[in-house]
Order: sequence, then structure tokens, then C-alpha cells
Amino acid sequence: MKKEDKMSISATGRRSFLKKLGGVSAGIASVGSLVKAADGTPAIPAGSTYMGDFGAPKLDKVKVAIIGVGARGPTHLSHIAAAEGTEVVGICDLYEDAVNRGRQMALNADAERHKNVKTFHGDEHAYRKMLLETKPDAVWIATPWEWHAPMAIDCMKAGAHAFVEVPLATSIEDLWKIIETSESTKRHCMMLENVNYGREELMFLNMCRQGVFGELLHAEAAYIHELRGQMGEYERGRGTGSWRTLHWANENGNLYPTHGLGPVAQYMNLGRGDDSFRRLVSFSTPARNHELYAKEALGPDSKSIKLDFSKGGDLNTSIIKTTLGRTVMVQWDESSPRPYSRHNLIQGTRGTGAGFPNRIALDYTWKNATPELRKLLGLPEDKPDQRSNYHSWIEGGGFDAFYEHFDHPLFKRMESIAKKHGGHGGMDAIMNFRAIECLIKGEALDQNLYEGAFWSAVTPLSRKSVAEDGMPQDFPDFTRGRWKSTKPLAIIS
Ligand SMILES: NC(=O)c1ccc[n+]([C@@H]2O[C@H](COP(=O)([O-])OP(=O)(O)OC[C@H]3O[C@@H](n4cnc5c(N)ncnc54)[C@H](O)[C@@H]3O)[C@@H](O)[C@H]2O)c1
Repeated sequence: MKKEDKMSISATGRRSFLKKLGGVSAGIASVGSLVKAADGTPAIPAGSTYMGDFGAPKLDKVKVAIIGVGARGPTHLSHIAAAEGTEVVGICDLYEDAVNRGRQMALNADAERHKNVKTFHGDEHAYRKMLLETKPDAVWIATPWEWHAPMAIDCMKAGAHAFVEVPLATSIEDLWKIIETSESTKRHCMMLENVNYGREELMFLNMCRQGVFGELLHAEAAYIHELRGQMGEYERGRGTGSWRTLHWANENGNLYPTHGLGPVAQYMNLGRGDDSFRRLVSFSTPARNHELYAKEALGPDSKSIKLDFSKGGDLNTSIIKTTLGRTVMVQWDESSPRPYSRHNLIQGTRGTGAGFPNRIALDYTWKNATPELRKLLGLPEDKPDQRSNYHSWIEGGGFDAFYEHFDHPLFKRMESIAKKHGGHGGMDAIMNFRAIECLIKGEALDQNLYEGAFWSAVTPLSRKSVAEDGMPQDFPDFTRGRWKSTKPLAIIS
């Protein structure tokens, strides 16, 4: 099919889709025309619902569809197909082989339950046909970043809850559009930040809630993951690197902030009652690594060598200041030769917990420590005022001993699911099974709409700060003041 034909079909498809959904485009366009405060914050439209603690009506069965079954989507699909109470009704991708693989995966999980699953492919708007034909209750979205916002908005307008891979969107404007759509349709839009379900992250959350680290003052988060090998997919024109390489070449900022930031933001209750995101400054190093890799690994005839990577920055460091004046450092680096890290550091008046490698340092005496901490820190009863040694990290087996007392109840309940179904050490399975559980029980989700927006906003704000030589950028208040009355995430058991 000629490109022009494809485009005219998708334009026609779009028009009829919009008609059937009852004016989606009007809804999307309306965000820009909402009454705005002086700082650009849209007013809260009449009849909209605050989604901070929102629980949707319970579902007996969750009809699920998925868009995007490339590298990431199949993990979600395998969990959704295996979780009790689901029916996989639709699978969509650009490629036929991908949807066929996905269909087989659903049938392998439970051929009877998922027997009516339909597949859609070939057109970049085929997902709209899927929404109309399969009428899902929830849609998982695992497509390239630029598709997240339009797909999530279309899904919510079609009556489905949207579960969107990270980041939620790549511009502040799109984040507001998502918020406006979720609030007006009363459909969840959860960004799928799987790292918040990691065992260490859940344990630190539990310890923070119990006050073990004292008053929390500072956190460090990162996505340091050398991914230059994905440039090979740019050469081949398919796969993650086929689109991600262009972000590396064309943008300068923190392009992937949420894996590190999500967990520490929940430790500190940012955007939930205690404190929120205030402003950010950001700086990047010069960009060298992608060009070097293109020269050394891909060669003079490669497509990558023709890209101009000099507009980017290899290592980006952003600092967030919260409303209470606390700080979070967020780093991003997908191209430097160094080991993986998300930092995962949380620091308070009584100590610090950190990841990569896992370690803890605490300041307690026998007198002020709980019985568990006395044991874990080896505090002597006969010297009740002697402070623990916070100059050295507790690592290895010493760190592992903390699991016995501080493992998060959710992790303990879902440990067998994590082991059986996996995905980044089990965090993906806990996230997906838990999301289905919340939909069935009608409970608020663990990550609300606004958290996904705050965490994702680091990308556009850091890009702007870098472009303005580090000038501070204010976070929009996506909750419009309502974070103050939003409950901190409870310790779910
Ligand atoms: N949370 C995590 O740990 C994690 C890990 C990997 C990727 N991701 C995220 O998952 C998302 C997908 O990444 P990936 O590595 O799977 O990329 P990918 O390129 O391998 O897969 C994306 C899939 O989306 C399909 N697609 C693209 N446009 C589409 C459209 N208009 N309609 C239907 N399908 C379309 C592609 O054909 C492809 O199969 C990204 O947002 C990425 O950041 C998250």
C-alpha cells in the first residue's frame, strides 16, 4: 500500500472513530482553551472528578486490551493473561508477527478464558478500531513515548482505564490533556512505574513510614543504564532503539526520570499530603558517547553516523526542590560505560538507605532503638548511650537481615507471584497483578494520575532548564492544590 493511501485511510478512520466516541477531538482541544491562572494552570472544570484517591466502580471481570507488544508489552500481556479475573480481548501492534505472538501467549496462559481475543495491526491507528470493537475495561499501553498521550486519551474517551508505560507523556501540555481527560471521564490513567514494586524499594517505603530514617530531607534517584547497543535497532528500523536513538540525538535533558524518581517520591510523600514538587534546575554534560559508538561499533556506512548527537547531553543532573525545601537529585545517563544504577537513596535525620549496592547507615542508641533495630545494629545494652556506627555502610548479609523485619507486607503477600511470573526480578508481576486486583476491588490505585504526571514532568522541565543554562523551572501543580488533602500511599498488606 502506498504511503498516501495509508494516510488517507487513517484520516478517515480517525474521523469515524471520533464521531463514534462523541467528539474526542473537541475534548482534547478544549484543554488549551480552559480558563488558566496567571501561571498557566488550567482551572478545574465543573463536573470533573479529582483522581487522587479515586476508586473506580468494582469490576467482576476485567476485559483487557494491549497496545504495543514489542520488547516490553509481552511481559505485561503474560501477567494480565495469567491474573485471575481477566479476559484478554484485544492485542494491537504495527506488526502482524507481534500480535500473533501475543495472541498465542494469551492462549497459552488460558485458552478458554481468552478464546475470543482479537488482533489488530498494520495501521498506526488500528488501536482505535480495537477500542471500538472490543470495548475493553482497561488498556495497557507499551508503545514508543510519543504515542503514550494520544493513546491514553483515546482509551479513556472510549471508556477504558489506561495503564501507560513510562513516561506518561513527554510534554507538559500533553500531561495536562491526560489529566483533563481522566478527571472528566472518571477513568484511571496510571503510569506503570514498576520500580515502585521492587523488593528493596518497598522495604525502604515501609521503613520510611515507620520513621526508621527519621525526618526525610534528601533523596537521590537515577536511570543510569548503558543502552548504546540499541542503536543497532535504529540501523534495522525496528525495535526500541529504532525510536529511542532519535530521542538521544534530538533532546537534551533527563529523558527517562521515573524509574529512579517514582520510589523516592513515594518515600517522601511528594504530591500526597506532606509535600509536593516545587521547582527544578538541570545541567547536562557534553554529548560524546553515541557518536563514538557509531564510529567504533557501527561504522562509516551506518545510519547512526549520519545523526548529529551533539545537541544532546550524555549525563544529565537535575535537582528538584520540594515545597518544604527538601531536595531530590535525579540523574540520567543511557550512554556512558559504567554499571547500572538507580541510586535509590533516601536520607533522613536518623540515617540513609541506598541501592546499587544495597546499603544502610543508621544513627541509634540502645535507648532510642526498637528491639529489632537494637538487634540489627548490634547495639549493646550495657552501653545504652553508645551510637551505632553510621560511618560505615551495612551491606551484604547485614543489609539482607533487614528484610526479616522490614519487608513490605505487599511484597510478602505477592512474593510467590513475583517468583512465578517475574519481570525485572518480580516487580513487574507485582505491579500488574496488583493493578488488576485494584480494578476488581474498586480500590484506588497505588500510583495516582498526578504522581505519573509529576514524575514525567522532569523531562520537559529539565529540557527547558538545560536550554536556559540551568534556570529554575517551576513544576505545574497538576493537582491544583488538592495534593494537600490527598492521603499518603498506605502500607498495603
Ligand atoms: N518499565 C520498564 O521497565 C520498561 C522496560 C522497557 C521499556 N519500557 C517502556 O515501554 C515502552 C515500549 O518500549 P519497548 O522497548 O517495548 O519498545 P519496542 O519498540 O520494542 O515496542 C513498541 C511496540 O509498539 C508498537 N507500536 C508503535 N507504534 C504503534 C502504534 N501506533 N500502534 C500500535 N503499536 C505501535 C511497535 O510496533 C512495537 O512493537 C516504552 O515507553 C519504554 O520506555 C519500560
